[in-house]
Amino acid sequence: YTMRKNIVAGNWKMNTDLAETQDLISGLKKIAKTSNAEVIIAPPFVNLYSAFESVKGLDITVAAQNMHQSDSGAFTGEISASMLKSIGVNTVILGHSERRAFFNEKEDLLAEKVNTALENDMTVIYCFGEELKDRKFSEHFEVVHKQISNALFHLDASAWENIVLAYEPVWAIGTGETASPDQAQEMHAYIRKTIADEYSENVAEKVTILYGGSVKPNNAEEIFSKPDVDGGLIGGASLKAEDFMAIVNAF
Ligand code: G3P
Repeated sequence: YTMRKNIVAGNWKMNTDLAETQDLISGLKKIAKTSNAEVIIAPPFVNLYSAFESVKGLDITVAAQNMHQSDSGAFTGEISASMLKSIGVNTVILGHSERRAFFNEKEDLLAEKVNTALENDMTVIYCFGEELKDRKFSEHFEVVHKQISNALFHLDASAWENIVLAYEPVWAIGTGETASPDQAQEMHAYIRKTIADEYSENVAEKVTILYGGSVKPNNAEEIFSKPDVDGGLIGGASLKAEDFMAIVNAF
């Protein structure tokens, strides 16, 4: 299994046109990386190829924010794994809460997307996380367990070397209401135990688990210092080169 690693991934969401993509990447180039974290950026589809070309020679991986589960065909507006691979993109975010909320993506579909990505030798950043109502009624562990098991527990143990998990409590996304470091650690530890129970300690210990939800330069270090937090999936703060690199360097 690939050893667990520190990763900071920037999910740009539906932001940046071509020129802004180039500006943001040149901003990133100007700031030294002083941590061991792997850096991933996920621009919108139309900017993936130019981003891939611009980061050549840099220690930055380009990822897609989504992908269709089919290889090709009559799916107007959709993007396939082979299209992403053809432009050098081998990493894909799947199951983001905004895909679940606005595009009705559920775990059965996400399991298909995960399978397609793995069949194409891609790395998956699988997103999940409870809503405020789930936490209010102390159902957040049950919800997270379902989101992981229904989409991923059909996989062989060996497939987990290409899975990165991103726990993103919906109530912390874009709200400035960051989960406390202890809340993040509690859920990450639960997630790791869930995987250990289903597979083994060996598999669980090697899974990279990222936290997402209002990670900023002023809170990243404390969150990343927790034993079961391996890095972050960053939204708003990934759109400013200085803020994103401050988070990358917060280990
Ligand atoms: O995928 C990362 C994103 O959902 C977190 O957004 O803006 O709270 O960092 P933000």
